[in-house]
Amino acid sequence: MKTFEPELDRLKAIGRYRSLNLPSGIDFSSNDYLGLSKHPALRQTAIEALQGGIEVGASASRLLRGHRQAHEDLERFAAIYFARPRTLFFANGYQANFALITALVKREDVVVYDALCHASMRDGLHMTRCRAIKARHNDLNAFEDALKEGRAAGGNVWLLVESVYSMDGDVAPLRELLLLVEKHDALMIVDEAHGTGVSGLTGRGETEGLDSERLIVLHTCGKALGVAGALVCASEPVISYLVNAARPFIYSTAPMPLQAVLVKRALEIVRDEPQRREQLLALKTLAAKRMPGIAINSQIVPIVVGEDRAAVALATALQASGFDIRAIRPPTVPEGTARLRLSLHVGLSRGDLTAFTDTLSRLLPERLCV
Ligand SMILES: Cc1ncc(COP(=O)(O)O)c(C=O)c1O
Repeated sequence: MKTFEPELDRLKAIGRYRSLNLPSGIDFSSNDYLGLSKHPALRQTAIEALQGGIEVGASASRLLRGHRQAHEDLERFAAIYFARPRTLFFANGYQANFALITALVKREDVVVYDALCHASMRDGLHMTRCRAIKARHNDLNAFEDALKEGRAAGGNVWLLVESVYSMDGDVAPLRELLLLVEKHDALMIVDEAHGTGVSGLTGRGETEGLDSERLIVLHTCGKALGVAGALVCASEPVISYLVNAARPFIYSTAPMPLQAVLVKRALEIVRDEPQRREQLLALKTLAAKRMPGIAINSQIVPIVVGEDRAAVALATALQASGFDIRAIRPPTVPEGTARLRLSLHVGLSRGDLTAFTDTLSRLLPERLCV
């Protein structure tokens, strides 16, 4: 029998060993961008649903006895909310991306994906055994060349992107990409994990206002929505096909009905409390002022350090000063780009952010901060 210790020792030796740490210090790393995970109205909704007798678990797959009114209510509400023909609720974003790609992409298809796409998309892609072309991050020419190449092959051609990139915080040129998709008769999957609730005119994501039958959008519910889950938004036949063919949907117990109730309430809060997005925008403006050496395109601010151990050392020093920020290392990010991923959220005060950037500028040799 081979044991796992040598591999763990190797990870330790190269500074890539991971361990679980409870939150401690001021939160600069969660994805609770709008502070909804602690919102009193959401807590109250949970209490009322439980007092009203909602079951704790669904106790079967959606296709068997696990389908509940709460799932249906959420999916109907979300279809109207995101202005898409239909939606399908999953327990989390990883499962939804994996399900979507493994069900829809066939072996004879070609998938063009952004070099920085999330692991859940890549893992699904790997399972399909189709031809996959990695396009340079956010490079429209690279995407167009790859789409042309894919079109020559005969099957469906897919384009996979995130809207707001999880580790870089920059935004995909979705409008231009959709034009390319139309031009080359392709289909597009957009992972809105970090755009949902935050981006777009009213928080419906970067895809807000984009309309096409070729577009499939994934909204996750565990980040800005503060709960857990994911909503796949697509045309009626695509959703029906997922219900019939997406193995993670079919062969898994349905998400807790309570989870669906809370996600629906979270969407209502995003709709009714635009001041949360305004507050986040103000923090972003302050962050840009305090860290002029870093390109800040969203609530996710990458502080790229380079070497793994240096990133860990910087995170440790900041943690010792009371800031909860974590080092992100390969394979989550490309080799040589280990970083701190600073996450802005409405739970931070202007004072918190100023104290953080003051400390960062003392610790970092480069002049990233004022
Ligand atoms: C871009 C992206 N897609 C999908 C996911 C997975 O979502 P969830 O956390 O709901 O499983 C994440 C979360 O890390 C993400 O950052």
